[in-house]
Amino acid sequence: MKAAVLKAFGSPLVVETVPAPVLGTGEVIVDVAATRMLAYADEVFSGKRNYLLNVPVIPGPGGIGRVRAVGPDATRLAVGDWVFCDPTVRSRDDATMPDILLQGWTAGDAGGGLRLQKHFTHGSFAEQMRVPTENVTRIGDIDDSDAPLWCALGTLLVPYGGLAAAKLTAGETVLINGATGAFGSAGVAVALAMGASAVIATGRNEKALGDLVRRFGSRVRTAPMFGKEDDDRARIHEAAPGPIDCVLDLLPPAAKASQVRTAALTVRPHGRVVLMGGLTGDGGIELPYTWLMRNGITLRGQFMYARDDARRVIGLVRAGLIDLNEFQVTAFGLDKVNDAVAHAAANAGPFKMTVLQP
Ligand SMILES: NC(=O)c1ccc[n+]([C@@H]2O[C@H](COP(=O)([O-])OP(=O)(O)OC[C@H]3O[C@@H](n4cnc5c(N)ncnc54)[C@H](OP(=O)(O)O)[C@@H]3O)[C@@H](O)[C@H]2O)c1
Repeated sequence: MKAAVLKAFGSPLVVETVPAPVLGTGEVIVDVAATRMLAYADEVFSGKRNYLLNVPVIPGPGGIGRVRAVGPDATRLAVGDWVFCDPTVRSRDDATMPDILLQGWTAGDAGGGLRLQKHFTHGSFAEQMRVPTENVTRIGDIDDSDAPLWCALGTLLVPYGGLAAAKLTAGETVLINGATGAFGSAGVAVALAMGASAVIATGRNEKALGDLVRRFGSRVRTAPMFGKEDDDRARIHEAAPGPIDCVLDLLPPAAKASQVRTAALTVRPHGRVVLMGGLTGDGGIELPYTWLMRNGITLRGQFMYARDDARRVIGLVRAGLIDLNEFQVTAFGLDKVNDAVAHAAANAGPFKMTVLQP
C-alpha cells in the first residue's frame, strides 16, 4: 500500500510503498478515506513540539474510512462499514489508569504510552491502517464525497470531552476560553448542540468572535480579551446573562497562565472548571486556595474524551444539532502530503479543515 512516512524529524514526508498492515485479534483494518492534517502538524514533524513519536513512522491522527477486515472478537462491525477511527488508544491491562497513546501522533508519556506505540505504531496517512477494535465507531452510511467533512468529528470530540467532563447540562451557561481557535470554536458549536442556554466566547480576535455570533446567533455572547486580568474578567461578566456554570479552557501553549486564570475565576460558586489547553511550563495557574475552598469549585483536567463519546457526537451530527457544513474543507491526495502540511499551517482558524485523502 501507499503511505506517507516521516523518516526523521525535520525532513519532509516521503510517499512510498510499504507493507500493508496485518490483522491481529482485537484489531480492525480500515481503508482510510480521509484524515485531518492538523494546523500544527509542521511543528510535530519538524520536532519543535517534541512529541513522543518514534521515527520512522507513518503519522496521522485517526480519521474516516471503511472497514476492510475485522478480528474474531468483533460482533457487530462488518466489512464495508463507514467508521470513525479514534486515535486515542488506551492500554487494555489497567482499566483504572490506562496508558494513553495518540496513534500516529504522540505517546501520552515516555513509559507505557511509548510501549503502546511499539505495537500501534502507524497512523492514518496511508491507504490502510490497523486500529484497536474499540477505537472504531460506525458512523452509518455516508456518501464517499462526504468523508472529508466527517473528519470534523476529530475536532468536535475534543471540546465534547471537556464539556462532558464539566457535566454541562442543558440550560446552563458555559464559557469557552480560546473560542476563536480550532478546538475552541468547535467547542462553541458543541456546547450549543448540548443545550447550553448561553456560550460566552473569549478571544483577542474580535473579528473571529463576531463571526461566531454570525454563525450561531444570540446564544453566543462574546468577550474580547485585551490582557488585563481584572478588566477582561469584568467584560466576561458583562457578556454573561447570569452566573457562569462551567468554564472550558482551550488556550494554546503560547498563552499565559493569567489568561487561563482570568476565565477560571469567573465561574459561579459550586461551578466547574475544565482545563484542556496546552499551557506549558511547570508553573501553575495560581488559583486562590480560599476561593476554591469556600466556593466548592470543581477543577479538573481532561485529555481527549471517553471512548463512547464518539457515538454521542455522531448522534448530535445525525440529529442536525451540529452542522458539519460549518467546516470549510481543503482536501489533498496522499502524493501532495507536504503541500497539505504547509496549507494546514497557513490556513489555521475556526471551522477551517485541511484533509488528506489517501
Ligand atoms: N486536552 C486535550 O485533549 C487536547 C486535545 C487537542 C488539543 N488540545 C489543545 O488545545 C489547544 C488549542 O488548540 P487549537 O488547535 O484550537 O489552537 P489554535 O487554533 O491556535 O487556537 C488557540 C486560540 O487561542 C487564542 N490565544 C489566546 N492567547 C494566545 C496567545 N498568547 N498566543 C496564541 N493564541 C492565543 C487565539 O485566539 P485569539 O487570537 O482570538 O486570542 C487562538 O485562536 C492546544 O494547546 C492543544 O494542545 C488539547
